Amino acid sequence: MLSSQPLPEPYASLPEAETLERIVRARAALGKKLFILGHHYQMDEIIRFADARGDSYRLSQIGSQQTEAQYIVFCGVHFMAESADILAQPGQQVILPDLAAGCSMADMATADQTEDAWETLERVCPGRTMPLTYMNSSAAIKAFVGKHGGSVTTSSNCRTAFEWAFEQRDKILFIPDEHLGRNTAFAMGVPLSKMAVWFPNLPQGGLTDKQIRDAKIILWKGCCSVHQKFGVADVPRVREALPGVKVIVHPECRYEVCQLADFVGSTDFIIKTITAAPAGSKWAVGTEIHLTSRLAQENPDKTIVSLAGIQCLCSTMFRIDPPHLLWVLENLLEGRVVNRIVVEPETKHWAQVALTRMLGLKAKTIAPAKPTAPAVAATAAAD
Ligand code: 13P
Ligand code: SF4
Repeated sequence: MLSSQPLPEPYASLPEAETLERIVRARAALGKKLFILGHHYQMDEIIRFADARGDSYRLSQIGSQQTEAQYIVFCGVHFMAESADILAQPGQQVILPDLAAGCSMADMATADQTEDAWETLERVCPGRTMPLTYMNSSAAIKAFVGKHGGSVTTSSNCRTAFEWAFEQRDKILFIPDEHLGRNTAFAMGVPLSKMAVWFPNLPQGGLTDKQIRDAKIILWKGCCSVHQKFGVADVPRVREALPGVKVIVHPECRYEVCQLADFVGSTDFIIKTITAAPAGSKWAVGTEIHLTSRLAQENPDKTIVSLAGIQCLCSTMFRIDPPHLLWVLENLLEGRVVNRIVVEPETKHWAQVALTRMLGLKAKTIAPAKPTAPAVAATAAAD
């Protein structure tokens, strides 16, 4: 778990208008020394100051191409800032405006647990497993994967990474998002009966040697607390409320929800699909609320609603707010770097290997979900 120092005064109590005005001034004064990256799930008051916005794949690409900026301020979460530091040029410094902006999914896999899982998999099936980690994991896990021949993936290139892995080895260990792993593998034709779930808190992941031998994909038991909130009942509810609506969801949503959706794809895929849709079309979106609300604002000729009846907000992304941004920028103006993210050299080396492998893979979105069997029956088969 990450911790941060409380936001010092006067930043915690400045009027909003003054905060925004001072960010504009600080940003202008820092000029080309500064590059601000903003993830699509950030609030509008932050996105307006971003030099580039994107999903985690795009931001890692853009971050790695910034050769001029001395400071990269990452408006996103901790694992994204770590990845930016891993890919940064020598001398560049990466800053996360609030160090408490972590990710509950990334916290669901530790380096020790991963080493334990690997030891078992190598004992049961030596040399047959390719480790892949979702971007949403710590630098230590990325390093582990890099050391063992694997790659990082994001939601926009997960299928490509799986295909790449299967060209070399028979099995994949996918860390830490169970749902992204299952949705991607199922879309590629891997049956649910060939997927096993690794419970990191149980001896041998809760699996027998035979279950490990039979599995094509070993899915780490982890999930996104935000995307997991979209439920199976939301789909028929929204279809009844908005006749003709298309349901589009992020692959971090549960398998059963993805099977009921019209489209499943990464943040980038969701944005491109809705932006290219005809005027008058209706969309129910299964992803973080800031992105859904921004899509609605930017596409006033379409009806765009959240798939969930409740607010699906990423509370850690939401920690990055204008007062924190102003605090780090004004400190930079005075020559002080606060909230710098530094990955130590050994971890950095191997994590860079895994991230560079990923950047060499061509992005491919998950194919639109075409249910082949009722979701409930398919789930039963998985058990
Ligand atoms: P992408 O940015 O890869 O779509 O991931 C979504 C997410 O949950 C980021 O934390
Ligand atoms: Fe983590 Fe989910 Fe928030 Fe992304 S949206 S940072 S995966 S908790």
